[in-house]
Amino acid sequence: MYRDRLSLFPGTVALTPDKRGTPALHVGGRDLNELAAEFGTPLYIYDEETIDNAVHAYQDALNRHYPGPTGITYAGKASLNLAMAHLMAAHGLLLDCTGIGEMHIARTAGVPRAQLLMHGVNKSRADLQAGLAQAGTLVVDNLPELEGIAQLVHDRGPAPALWLRIRPGYAVDTHQFRQTGQRDSKFGMDAGECVDAVAFCQRNELPVTGLHFHQGSHFHAAEEVLPALDVVCELIGRLHQELNWWPQALSPGGGWGIAYHEADLPHQSIEAYVATVAAALAENLSSYSPPLPRLQVEPGRSLVARAGVAIYRVGTVKQAGSRRWLLLDGGMADNIRPALYQARYSALPVTDPLNRPPISENAWLAGPYCESGDLLIEDLPLPEIKPGELLAVPVSGAYQLMMASNYNGALRPAVVMLRDGAAQLAQRRETVDDLLLRDIA
Ligand SMILES: Cc1ncc(COP(=O)(O)O)c(C=O)c1O
Repeated sequence: MYRDRLSLFPGTVALTPDKRGTPALHVGGRDLNELAAEFGTPLYIYDEETIDNAVHAYQDALNRHYPGPTGITYAGKASLNLAMAHLMAAHGLLLDCTGIGEMHIARTAGVPRAQLLMHGVNKSRADLQAGLAQAGTLVVDNLPELEGIAQLVHDRGPAPALWLRIRPGYAVDTHQFRQTGQRDSKFGMDAGECVDAVAFCQRNELPVTGLHFHQGSHFHAAEEVLPALDVVCELIGRLHQELNWWPQALSPGGGWGIAYHEADLPHQSIEAYVATVAAALAENLSSYSPPLPRLQVEPGRSLVARAGVAIYRVGTVKQAGSRRWLLLDGGMADNIRPALYQARYSALPVTDPLNRPPISENAWLAGPYCESGDLLIEDLPLPEIKPGELLAVPVSGAYQLMMASNYNGALRPAVVMLRDGAAQLAQRRETVDDLLLRDIA
């Protein structure tokens, strides 16, 4: 009954007998019990091979389905630390940084300028200065921002390549908090503003070279990109005709979804998504003479989410009314997604995950924080679980730690990267002293 859940875990998941001969979850060649003993819980692990395979799935699909040049930008907001920045840069990906903070992480990791791209909907002056000084590409959100860039470039020297963010008027079908492409969204410019922006760049000799749109995050039907692509291609035609301008790069953003729960399986492949976008773009622009722009996809979640597993230890097991509560040592402080947009997860016990007899009462998994909204998983079929056991929550690699907090004095968990049986601590667990780092006595 729990077997489907295994396929939510990283590609290297295996069940291997522990010292007592009981099967236990392994990822990246490592026993999750041993990792929890070594690094403590809650613990976030990332299986690098699963990330490699997701990158290759995008690369292969782009090569197979788009007749022009292609590239991948990793949306760092999904999960970023020095190790992740290294890994993505080593794959040759561009790294999308939102503002000066993420840019600092990427720069410290040694990512070269040419691989750095900056996004942001309300970039501060410090963001813009960092973007101009350090990024190879800067995505412009709005006209006042572009005027600010022109001023800074005038005062301080050359601009990186500028891409314009279009608001296509179409969002994808996802939670409303993750929609960005709709007509009244706070992100980007409408088509008319984009024409004005290109004209402004031409007048001010700013190197505008690309167009970008992003309709939202975690959608599941590739066809949802097509209406936005039509809008963007129509805009390209207009820019070509009116301003003799043609994009060298076009980014349809990211947002391709994944399966978080066994009920989400099967999920359409990365290839299906890329094939749909690539074919539509090539077809849409086929009647124009300039060469096809570089198709630059910008995924975050679909590159890293499945590679991540969160390991929690069960503390108290409690019956309250009709609910069987499993109270964990982590929750909304390391994963706000269920509280923020009702994200639905699944879980397995680390030891003997598949063969225990099911029981009729589903489990409610919650954390230790002082909010009833600190509810990680509702109503999940699970066997009997004892206090002290470990539970593994798959698909924990995106938008969890990046939104983590110190609520109730929570300490952010350690992060471990796994490859070929080796476990590398990428981020240590916070200590209580970290909670005081910014305080002035
Ligand atoms: C501009 C932009 N690009 C890419 C992404 C990545 O989305 P996802 O992680 O769903 O692929 C986001 C996420 O919100 C985004 O805002």
